[in-house]
Amino acid sequence: MIKSTSLYNERTEGTAEARAATISGLHVAIIMDGNGRWASARGLPRTAGHQAGARALRRTVEAATELGIGTLTLYAFSCDNWKRPPTEVAILMQLFRTHLISELPRSVENGIRVEVIGRRDRLDGVLAQSINEVEHATAAGSALHLRIAVDYSARDCILRAAGALEGPPSTERFTLLLGEAMHASAGAPDVDLLIRTGGEKRLSDFLLWESAYAELVFSERMWPDFERVDLEAALGEFARRERRFGGLPGQNGNIVAPAQAV
Ligand code: FPP
Repeated sequence: MIKSTSLYNERTEGTAEARAATISGLHVAIIMDGNGRWASARGLPRTAGHQAGARALRRTVEAATELGIGTLTLYAFSCDNWKRPPTEVAILMQLFRTHLISELPRSVENGIRVEVIGRRDRLDGVLAQSINEVEHATAAGSALHLRIAVDYSARDCILRAAGALEGPPSTERFTLLLGEAMHASAGAPDVDLLIRTGGEKRLSDFLLWESAYAELVFSERMWPDFERVDLEAALGEFARRERRFGGLPGQNGNIVAPAQAV
């Protein structure tokens, strides 16, 4: 995992070189909130907000690839979102599928490995089939690992991984089982930076285990208005924070274990 502050030093701080080094390979997660309010503010149906949200998603993936982010996990639909009116759910599912299919050539061309994480058993068969096809077609991508969370609940994944544990628990074993519980075929590092748009300040059951030491950035921007500059602003905020991972200032997360601490 990249530890941001360790990559900054007096010589390079503030330069493009330093910024690139800080961002390279990060795991950024985004709770894309505010589609409905964006639409209501314009007198539009919520669907229009989700469509504009899909355009913001495309812009963000493009920016993340250009900036050198390693893993981008986007929260598109939670297990609790099934409580929404059936018409909104149906439109969202349709949007996910058309987006995955229409973006496939661009994903392959730009080296984007696409994965959908979350439950598969409640998804429409046609959507599930499209997900399999897109995952297969993009599996060799190495520029950006894009994970879209659909029918996802961190608690549900944690419970299922815990239920599958055999023998003495270890972080490595549990992490593997957690990946299986969310149907992730590729591993992903812990979240470095978690962004939530739309002004609310909560995690909403998103990546609770993986975000143990994530830096949190809350943006007032409604998701459809989210632009590359907003992503860069969040990354700038991230770079200014000192990550201590429970240690002391200046240790840059390189913690000496008690047995070695003499
Ligand atoms: C939260 O905003 C957003 C969602 C539940 C759906 C996210 C979907 C997209 C960004 C559309 C594109 C996605 C893909 C994968 C193509 P909200 O509707 O809860 O907004 P509100 O809080 O203003 O009501």
